[in-house]
Amino acid sequence: MLKSQTPALDTEARPPSHLFYLSSLRRPLVDRAEGIYIWTQDGRRFIDGSSGPMVANIGHSNRNVLDAMKRQMDRATFAYRLHFENEPAEELARALAAKLPEGMDRIFFVSGGSEATESCIKLARQWAVATGQPRRWKVITRFPSYHGGTLGSLSVTGDDALAETFAPMMQVMPTVPAPAAWRDRDNLSIEQRGIRYADMLEEKILAEGPESVLAFIMEPVGGAATAALVAPDSYYPRIREICDRYGILLIHDEVMSGAGRTGKFLGGDHWNCKPDIVALSKGLGSGYAPLGALAAPMRLVQPL
Ligand SMILES: Cc1ncc(COP(=O)(O)O)c(C=O)c1O
Repeated sequence: MLKSQTPALDTEARPPSHLFYLSSLRRPLVDRAEGIYIWTQDGRRFIDGSSGPMVANIGHSNRNVLDAMKRQMDRATFAYRLHFENEPAEELARALAAKLPEGMDRIFFVSGGSEATESCIKLARQWAVATGQPRRWKVITRFPSYHGGTLGSLSVTGDDALAETFAPMMQVMPTVPAPAAWRDRDNLSIEQRGIRYADMLEEKILAEGPESVLAFIMEPVGGAATAALVAPDSYYPRIREICDRYGILLIHDEVMSGAGRTGKFLGGDHWNCKPDIVALSKGLGSGYAPLGALAAPMRLVQPL
């Protein structure tokens, strides 16, 4: 775009911001949004090419969703889950379970992605304690990776810069390299590299002591930290095999890759993956409401 076509931001007209932003740089002020478009108050129209980022899977301000939200809010806006059941939550859980791998039919709704991954870790730990395996607590993760910003989800986020300040306040977990196999310069085939990366998990489990390892968390299709990283096909079944061999739970973080973002409902569906626990958010609520979910089979939930 020519410089003369880019209007200056209307920041002078705006009151000073009281919000925490990541930088002091002011940004265009949103007026409205619909479908793939966002209009700003200075009259520009943007294509929201990143779905802001990777959240608005069904597009902005979908009339069907807005009408359904309004209908529900006119009836009731909140019901405490220890005191009441509510029909929309039941319906959503049923619809979600129908889209997930067979048997993955216990759903726990939360408010976002970090809470979803953290809840997965907590469920894994509760399951281990309830089934007489209290020595299992380590959650192996990949480096680099991003699983969230709360202290629990940050502890499994493979990013030194993000974790550094908070490291003394949390338990930083063991890592294995993310399978960036396309980058390697060796004589192995891509599938052999996939096996090699998966086997690094086994080496890490053995080094840590298998009896202390609780779970392995990974994104089937990488997001913020690994730029849509897809592992070689051989990686996925081998990871499953290794987790099974040592009684370790496989957690799939589908916060970004799930809810249809990669063309199947879950990113892992491209390889028919059968994780033990799945975290969802972002596209699940598509920005209409803060929403995340954890999904697990009854065999993990029942012992609690
Ligand atoms: C893969 C993944 N997991 C977890 C999160 C954390 O989600 P939230 O920002 O909703 O807490 C993100 C956010 O980008 C993510 O991409």
